[in-house]
Amino acid sequence: MELALQQLEATLCRLGHHFPADTSAQQHYMPRHAEGAPLGANVGWTTGFWTGLMWLAYELSGQPQFAHAARAQTASFARRLEARRELEHHDLGFLYLLSHVAADQLCALPGARSTAMAAADLLLARFLPGAGIIQAWGRLDDPQEHGRTIIDCLMNLPLLHWASAVSGERRYTDAARIHVQRTRDHLVRPDGATYHTYYFDTVRGTPLRPSTRQGWSDDSCWARGQAWALYGFALNQRHLPELDLLDTACRIADYFLAHLPADRIALWDLSLPLDSGEPRDSSACAIAACGLFDLASQLPAGARQQHYQQAAIELTQALQSQCAARLPQAGGLLRHGTYHRQIGLGVDECNLWGDYYYLEALARWQRNWRSYDSRSLSGTALAPAEGAQQPVPAACTG
Ligand code: GLY
Repeated sequence: MELALQQLEATLCRLGHHFPADTSAQQHYMPRHAEGAPLGANVGWTTGFWTGLMWLAYELSGQPQFAHAARAQTASFARRLEARRELEHHDLGFLYLLSHVAADQLCALPGARSTAMAAADLLLARFLPGAGIIQAWGRLDDPQEHGRTIIDCLMNLPLLHWASAVSGERRYTDAARIHVQRTRDHLVRPDGATYHTYYFDTVRGTPLRPSTRQGWSDDSCWARGQAWALYGFALNQRHLPELDLLDTACRIADYFLAHLPADRIALWDLSLPLDSGEPRDSSACAIAACGLFDLASQLPAGARQQHYQQAAIELTQALQSQCAARLPQAGGLLRHGTYHRQIGLGVDECNLWGDYYYLEALARWQRNWRSYDSRSLSGTALAPAEGAQQPVPAACTG
């Protein structure tokens, strides 16, 4: 954890107020570059992980430069919402749970709650009642994307549950419940593997066909999708205990763990032969490790609980021993991630979500960290570790 925090601090000092790109380039993050937007702008689906890293690093270390950066970045998410900049997708949870819900939980930042509620409203507006799913991407009338959902979306639903808890209105959680049921019934296969995305008829609700965006094929098992599913069902179980999602999460976890190579770092698609020489996706393992910790924390004490807790620890240790980045060779936290193998994007690089979930896995393991949506609304932050207060480097002050 100490190494990870040092790495993060170095990248923060180098990038200043710029948001980094989705992935490192030759192992170092550069400011985000998107057509039509200023350098380092808050655009895309991954900037919340950078802000989430800041809040988490502050919780873990108490270092003020992380809090300072987190607050400044959180303010940029409020402006982004006001401008409705690149928000026509399901990843509103990643963006606003890790910025505004975190800010509300950790320091009751004025306005954080109302901004996160507005983000939840946008996410709820993507729910298609006829299909019973939240549409993944694009305008709701986009003929290519209409009625298409994605396994990753489970991870964004805690924003809806949080909104129900804050407002006392059930409609957010009610939509999430239907989406989770549809996902469990149609995107999880009998052997515990998952489909990446799935189309539904938006009038009759008929399930139409699986499809992949980043996997090897429509019916393969994309490693990161499987990890999102494992963690996503575990997170939703806390809010929807009536659905009994733990067995589903266990089956998905079993499939994930059974398809790892001996060194425990997943290939980017779990359907690939283990000796294929294909790139790894360490970020899938970081997400899965968090999911396993969360799953274990909800199982009754006993052999099954210990099995998944041990699997979480072993995955985190494998990431630490084989993928932890160290300057000057690499400037992120977690090496050997893969964003999109088929188009050669971010292959064998660090990526923002891999870095975020790696630090979260360490925090879950060593500090019993809990997700923001699962804390009571007046939740208290972890006290910084004893002796964690470090001198503030001059480059980060002011
Ligand atoms: N949620 C998009 C991805 O994992 O690449």
